[in-house]
Amino acid sequence: MLEIIDKFDQLRAQARMGGGEERIHAQHRRGKLTARERLEVLMDQGTFEELDTFVEHNCADFGMQETHVAGDGVVTGFGLIHGRRVFAFSQDFTVFGGSLSESNARKICKIMDMAVKVGSPIIGINDSGGARIQEGVASLAGYAEVFQRNVMASGVVPQISAIMGPCAGGAVYSPALTDFILMVKDTSYMFLTGPDVVKTVTHEEVTAEQLGGAVTHATRSGVADFAFDNDLNLIRHLRKLLSFLPSSNRAPRECIATGDDPKRQILSLDTLVPDDPQRPYDMKELIEKVVDNHDFMEVQAGYAKNIIIGFARMGGQSVGIVANQPLVLAGCLDIASSVKAARFVRFCDCFHIPIITFVDVPGFLPGLQQELGGIIKHGAKLLFAFAEATVPKITVIIRKAYGGAYDVMSSKHLRGDLNYAWPNAEIAVMGPKGAAEIIFRNEIRKADDPEAKLKEVTAAYAANFANPFIAARKGFIDDVIMPRDTRFRVIRGLQTIAGKQLSNPWKKHDNLPL
Ligand code: HXC
Repeated sequence: MLEIIDKFDQLRAQARMGGGEERIHAQHRRGKLTARERLEVLMDQGTFEELDTFVEHNCADFGMQETHVAGDGVVTGFGLIHGRRVFAFSQDFTVFGGSLSESNARKICKIMDMAVKVGSPIIGINDSGGARIQEGVASLAGYAEVFQRNVMASGVVPQISAIMGPCAGGAVYSPALTDFILMVKDTSYMFLTGPDVVKTVTHEEVTAEQLGGAVTHATRSGVADFAFDNDLNLIRHLRKLLSFLPSSNRAPRECIATGDDPKRQILSLDTLVPDDPQRPYDMKELIEKVVDNHDFMEVQAGYAKNIIIGFARMGGQSVGIVANQPLVLAGCLDIASSVKAARFVRFCDCFHIPIITFVDVPGFLPGLQQELGGIIKHGAKLLFAFAEATVPKITVIIRKAYGGAYDVMSSKHLRGDLNYAWPNAEIAVMGPKGAAEIIFRNEIRKADDPEAKLKEVTAAYAANFANPFIAARKGFIDDVIMPRDTRFRVIRGLQTIAGKQLSNPWKKHDNLPL
């Protein structure tokens, strides 16, 4: 018996060496951890349990029958993160470049199926040369099996993709189907066709980093939600991201003790908004001040910065925050920001995460580029997302809420549960100057000093209409609250509506304007 145990230990140790010492060194030289090291760091210490360690490929072409490596290029299993069960796969670049074979795909599918059955998140660590070239269509079939499972798991369990090496060709579609993509700068990239093909087809010369690096996707394409300097930093933030998410769409909402007083008043908020309505301020400052322990995890921080999205806790309850950013494009909604926020709102709604919306929006961004780009359709996505969401929704209008954007930003009319406004809020069809120019066009034209007249009527319009009280009188705003009380009022609101039950009419699925 001892002999058998000894032999088994040797086999396991051999399997753990993946593609061998030299390839592990090569991985380290590039500043990358190995597949197993990544999982060890990701999971709570000592909790990772590997499955299918001894699975091998079944390919007999191109001399492959001579090369078998236990595990076949992907490490799969389960473990705990912050004490909660998660399932994970980690592609092993040291074995056939982490390429996806039929057996390797079967391993990934096995843990995905288990995760959905038990209701636990799925984490995929991508570091792969793509389809196992020697296997041909068997590998493509494997990808499709994974894609199908990504789609079925969407909205059932959180799915998170870490891109920590190459991810190219159709392989990019598995991460693209998941909820969040995290990338490492300089060592990871995602593209459908690499720099060489691009050069041949379009004669453009680009590096892999420019075409599909972490910075490109986190700032320009919007494909990535986060970009980090190295593997360890990414993994640390992945663990943090998970701490805000439930295990599945069946898991009850959890409140944890954060030690931050829910009644904490924030006097500095009373002077956050400048007197001049044209002057911007930093909405992130507001968010960081109101959430528990100033701990706000922003998602897509470098992309479509005119809207802010991210997770925080308020009164211990995990919440999704959506907020216009007056510092960028005056906080206008455009194509990119609408799509960014819509996807986030839909994620929160899938997983019962209450949505807190801070509004300061002068409207949709005007312009030929926006109209030709389909702002009508893309803006409708955000409207659709807020309107269909049945999670608790609390909205605070901080300053401007103009026109259609007022409706879109989680207004009362889109089933907002508690809609508050600060006393200085301006809720109107448009800004006072634009409104005065239209309503008083004749008076301004006929005046001796048209500019002075415009100033006068603008001031009169602002005094009468650019305030929250008309909306409050109609019940569209539930209360006008003091800036300093924002944290307390939102937390009390969350507690009040925690038991909310609301469902949409039965349908096969909706028809979001794509
Ligand atoms: C089999 C592969 C492989 C692959 C890499 N390897 N990619 N084996 N299938 N797709 C092997 C290499 O032969 C090598 O084996 C080892 O992995 C490491 O690769 P290197 O080339 O030495 O590494 P590096 O220089 O870092 O280059 C990494 C790379 C390059 C850029 C990813 O390997 C590469 O271009 N690979 C091919 C990529 C590709 O065209 N894949 C198919 C894409 S299409 P040894 O034994 O020498 O260590 C696709 C379609 C998916 O994926 C469709 C889904 C629907």
